[in-house]
Amino acid sequence: MDVWVYNTQSLHRPARFSETWQVSEIRYIEYGTRLEIMTLNLAATYDETKVDELRNDFPVLSRLVHGVPLVYLDNAATTQKPLAVIEAMDQYYRSYNSNIHRGVHTLSEEATAAYEDARRRIAQFINAPSEKQIVFTRNATEAINLVAYTWGRANLGPGDEVLITEMEHHGNIVPWQILRDQIGFTLRYIPITEEGRLDLSQLDDLLTERTKILSFVHVSNVLGTINPVAQLTAAARAVGALVMLDASQSVPHMPVDVQALDVDFLVFSGHKMCGPTGIGVLYGKREILEAMPPFMGGGDMIREVKMSGSRWNTLPYKFEAGTPAIAEGIGLGAAVDYLNAVGMDWIWQHEHALAAYAHEQIAQIEGIRILGPGPEERAGLVSFTLDGIHPHDISAILDQSGIAIRAGHHCAQPIHTHYDIAASARASFYLYNTKEEVDKLTAALEKAVEIFLI
Ligand SMILES: Cc1ncc(COP(=O)(O)O)c(C=O)c1O
Repeated sequence: MDVWVYNTQSLHRPARFSETWQVSEIRYIEYGTRLEIMTLNLAATYDETKVDELRNDFPVLSRLVHGVPLVYLDNAATTQKPLAVIEAMDQYYRSYNSNIHRGVHTLSEEATAAYEDARRRIAQFINAPSEKQIVFTRNATEAINLVAYTWGRANLGPGDEVLITEMEHHGNIVPWQILRDQIGFTLRYIPITEEGRLDLSQLDDLLTERTKILSFVHVSNVLGTINPVAQLTAAARAVGALVMLDASQSVPHMPVDVQALDVDFLVFSGHKMCGPTGIGVLYGKREILEAMPPFMGGGDMIREVKMSGSRWNTLPYKFEAGTPAIAEGIGLGAAVDYLNAVGMDWIWQHEHALAAYAHEQIAQIEGIRILGPGPEERAGLVSFTLDGIHPHDISAILDQSGIAIRAGHHCAQPIHTHYDIAASARASFYLYNTKEEVDKLTAALEKAVEIFLI
């Protein structure tokens, strides 16, 4: 019997048991003969009251919507920004706005130092071996496209296969479909089970020597499912495939260590982790990034340009053509400082507690169907449908109570097709949300049911 221990935070193998862990579930899966033990890292010292103090850091949380205090539960779409981030960007524009990497004057040197220092801190945040492996992109979507168009074009062709999953965000489906239609490989999908987990029973058929890359989501933005990265990475390694992890919904919410996960690429967006829009990250293993051709051509990504041809710059600049999002890079640096100060362990525990509480409360509402696995195995979001009420109507009614949730397909149509629904409503939590806000959500949903079902 092969025993695998997963911890929802670190997800690496072999895991060391800590006394602060609670074993939440033990289950067999049908992938070979393997005993899977799912654990949660719940330190004994979680201080729930810390949230009251943190809320003061977010100016927007004090505003009213329709005359009542805002309850912001659309964090999987984008999070609010703390003063530290707003001020870091403001400071750049007020005191040292300048282009970077080129100028030999004080402002340019200050801006370059601030931008590159942010890159260093972001590398440390995910434990990347070097900041040279942190490529700035516009967002996670652009980072996935970068890999598809550079690594994919250079390494894929007819007869090859790319494996993704049925629970991907469109950002990890459409780039592969476009490329497949252009160069002709086969795109395959790991299906999902009714409980919203990956169905790994057919993995041996889906992941074969033809598979060149396995690209999958760490935490589903609809189901909240936390996928078994270690298991999937080991299976990909066994057939010689690369692994790309879409960490858009994990890096903002739990400690993520790229060296422990041992994936080849990892992507995330700044705006989902207290940072600004317009900045995202592609992390890659150095030798793979070195071997990849550039993405876009232009200034900064070159070492030398002659009329006959050009030579490329070193990492990470080879992939960063043109003037980058300077203020946004500096803002994301301030965001990771902020998250570090709050503590990623605390954030994960807080969100997990909120999502479990929300799950328990709203599960009792008449006609509700919650998508995804049970509270022990999910990250800080809950998607659901209510019988007879369109998710857009749910969202519109909740808005009257100042509650912002998401309604629609959340850029993950295949999941909704799987459940034979067009859309769902989603409440997603972050470090500044409270139990009282979950109570307001529950009360507003009960009111919506009353209004519609009378
Ligand atoms: C799992 C997942 N992947 C990718 C994305 C795309 O992020 P962005 O729009 O910032 O590129 C999102 C955004 O919701 C997401 O939730």
